Amino acid sequence: MNGMSLQTDNEFLPLATPNLAGNEQRYLNECVASTFVSSVGEFVTRFEQESAQALGALYGAAVSSGTAALHLGLLALGVRPGDLVIMPSFTFIATANAVAHAGASPWLMDVDPLNWTLDPELLVHELREHASAQGDVVIHRPTGKRIGAILPVHTLGSPADMDAINSIAREYGLPVLADGAACLGAKYKGRDLGSLADLTTLSFNGNKTVTAGGGGVVASDDQALVDHARHLSTQAKTGPGYRHDHVGYNYRLTNLQAAVGCAQLEQLTGFVERKRAIHRTYNQAWQELEGWEPFPEPAWAKSACWFSGVVCPDAATASALRDHLAKSRIAAGEFWTPVHLQTPYMNCAQSHMGVCTPLWPRIVVLPCSTHLTGAQQQRVINAVLDAYQVG
Ligand SMILES: Cc1ncc(COP(=O)(O)O)c(C=O)c1O
Repeated sequence: MNGMSLQTDNEFLPLATPNLAGNEQRYLNECVASTFVSSVGEFVTRFEQESAQALGALYGAAVSSGTAALHLGLLALGVRPGDLVIMPSFTFIATANAVAHAGASPWLMDVDPLNWTLDPELLVHELREHASAQGDVVIHRPTGKRIGAILPVHTLGSPADMDAINSIAREYGLPVLADGAACLGAKYKGRDLGSLADLTTLSFNGNKTVTAGGGGVVASDDQALVDHARHLSTQAKTGPGYRHDHVGYNYRLTNLQAAVGCAQLEQLTGFVERKRAIHRTYNQAWQELEGWEPFPEPAWAKSACWFSGVVCPDAATASALRDHLAKSRIAAGEFWTPVHLQTPYMNCAQSHMGVCTPLWPRIVVLPCSTHLTGAQQQRVINAVLDAYQVG
């Protein structure tokens, strides 16, 4: 769906749909005409360079999804079967799935209530309580497992507190992989996000601010790490013949997808400005609503504001709001069920979850496509205010 179909008053307003008004069609045609539609081509090379540059990293490897990017990132950083990987529970399940794909298990931690990202104070507390250095490895004492990496998430494009996390990681000698699925356009203390972790991953699936239909990037200033991830993404092939030096994957992004991705990256600045404006307008609208809270933006960061919405006083109010909006033909989404509440990960090592357990059912995600018009956003706001007054 594009902006043209979001016009009339009673028209259904979706959560987040792609905005394909740039060079997408033209680049796709060029790509087809070139016959390079698969894993080699001008667009895929350009896409990995331009997306890394947009993130502020020197190098990037373009792969088939954000989940694949996380999986390869973990492998490139040396995570091994049997390891634990420290990560926040408050994330999309793909973060945990990538850890499991690497043969490791998540050590789940709660988030900071003010920014919904991995809480550095809790991280250090948990490490002090439950981990010990043994030679050059760090062991989680209750399970005896090696800790392979720390995996913070830039939640909804809002950066985790990377200075604090990196200083803890350095103290324990642990590598850091940042899940930056939706973070393109964000800043951390005025800095780009691409060089804040050993590796950072991006997602370009259909609901992201910038999409390639599907896709991901592993980015870093460390060329060897990125080259290794790219090598693993193409079956770890070593030369022109059929020789392979690792267990590889068929994870390379196609040139066709990259053609769309390149056209989308050209529009990144405008898209992120629009996302931020939508976020601001929603947050201003909720200021007077007692007990209702805005989506957070930490003082030290500039979020890319991938998703916007409202935090209701309790789960019942959020559920009633979703029903009310559905009747008004407005999509209103649930937020991620935390990973520690998901069947495959319930028994993982975990901290207390006093923040994300009660928080997630109070969150209502609201329409925030970059082509949402002012009038359409006002329709959403009016419907929320309506529900508040009734409620
Ligand atoms: C935080 C986070 N991590 C990972 C992913 C996975 O990305 P993909 O869907 O491209 O595999 C997503 C996708 O929405 C995400 O939001």
